[in-house]
Amino acid sequence: MLFKRKNKLATKLGFLFLTSIILLEGILFVVLYFGFLNQRVMVETDSLMARGNSHRDVLEKHFDEATRAHVTLMESEAETQVVITDATNSILDHSNTITPSIKSIIQSVDHTSVKDGIIEGDWGKAPYVSTVSPVTINGVSVGYVYMFLNTEGIRDIRDKLTVQFLIVTGLALFLTVITIIYLSRIITKPLIHMKEATQKMSSGEHDVYLIEDRDDELGELAKAIQTLSNDLLRLKNERSDFLASISHELRTPLTYLSGYADIAKRDNLTLEERKRYLTIIKEESGNLTNLVKDLFDMAKMDQKGFLIERQKVEICSLINQVRAKVMPAYENKEINLFTSCQKEIIITLDPERFTQVLLNLLDNALHYSEKGKSVRIEANQVRKDLQVEIIDEGEGIPKEDLPFIFDRLYRVDKSRSRKYGGSGLGLAIAKEIIEKHEGTISASSEVNKGTKIKIVIPGVE
Ligand SMILES: Nc1ncnc2c1ncn2[C@@H]1O[C@H](COP(=O)(O)OP(=O)(O)O)[C@@H](O)[C@H]1O
Ligand SMILES: [Mg+2]
Repeated sequence: MLFKRKNKLATKLGFLFLTSIILLEGILFVVLYFGFLNQRVMVETDSLMARGNSHRDVLEKHFDEATRAHVTLMESEAETQVVITDATNSILDHSNTITPSIKSIIQSVDHTSVKDGIIEGDWGKAPYVSTVSPVTINGVSVGYVYMFLNTEGIRDIRDKLTVQFLIVTGLALFLTVITIIYLSRIITKPLIHMKEATQKMSSGEHDVYLIEDRDDELGELAKAIQTLSNDLLRLKNERSDFLASISHELRTPLTYLSGYADIAKRDNLTLEERKRYLTIIKEESGNLTNLVKDLFDMAKMDQKGFLIERQKVEICSLINQVRAKVMPAYENKEINLFTSCQKEIIITLDPERFTQVLLNLLDNALHYSEKGKSVRIEANQVRKDLQVEIIDEGEGIPKEDLPFIFDRLYRVDKSRSRKYGGSGLGLAIAKEIIEKHEGTISASSEVNKGTKIKIVIPGVE
């Protein structure tokens, strides 16, 4: 086959192109062939008839030899031909040589009932188109004027048209081949590349390279697929990184648990010692529970169907409830917790999730601050946005770590975070929740001065 099955689209388009050209051409040909040629023949026949009639008019005045000779002489130079017969159809004069077909046409005419008219009009087959005009003097028929026009000229034109039609058909075929080649280069090839790329992607390969140097829709599609492939690769890497970190995170407390359990099992321990080890075990299992709970939260939020249940909430009273909840822990570490709420701010959000965010942030502020320091929660309405800031005077976050603290499992100081039971997921969860509310969360910090976490959520009533 000339075209590979692969290029089906190009072949289809090419043949569509071919069919429409041939159809158009066919219509043109029919119009020209029948319309134009018939028109031409009609004009010629009419003028032939008119010429015959005018000869007849002359001959009705003088049907003598001299006039007849004059008439035939006039015709001898023209493309047409005249034959004058008497009343019985015997030839008297003629302008050019009489061919057998002229003779047979004349003989086929029934001379007893002839009127003006066309006696042969079939230009396609007959060698002549011919007319007859009877010559009548004083009501008596004295003869006939026959006019003949050779049909060769018209047939010539028709043959030329046919040849031209064939040439154009050939040209259309040629153009079709060119079109198919062009289309397969321009359209189908990139499509096939993209199809192969997506097949590769779905079979798990990711070294897809699809940069099309074109700015049309196909180029855009190629770019979109390339982006998709890159995203997929990134997600895949992220997922395996995440799984690796998670298994590491899980392994650490489990090692502690089993280690301390082994020690606690020993027979030669005092009650005091055994209690201490069991306390550690209890703490570690609590940390593990927290980690699993956070992971579960994360997993839920990754699902497409994760919904926040919004309702009207007055922020100041929500903040006071949160404050009451964390107060014992703050008092325990002797850290002050102040709240400042400008006025009544009413906003629709998911109160449970938002509380979870605040608890996470206050938890961080508590654990990364020293005894005697203060933490402030400030809520403000800025235009239609709710702004909540949690400001501490703690150890701060180094500049180079700041961009990553919202990443899953990212912790500046792993051992320190572990000590208080941090999973490294708190800020990541907070970010997800705030983004589900179409809001933003950001951090600014200075080492040894403190940290400020700022939340902005749109939609204050
Ligand atoms: N208020 C803060 N002050 C200093 N460091 C902070 C503060 N909040 C977060 N961080 C840093 O960001 C990291 C990520 O926070 P988070 O996601 O809550 O995890 P963690 O479980 O460790 O608290 C923490 O490990 C800590 O290093
Ligand atoms: Mg935390």
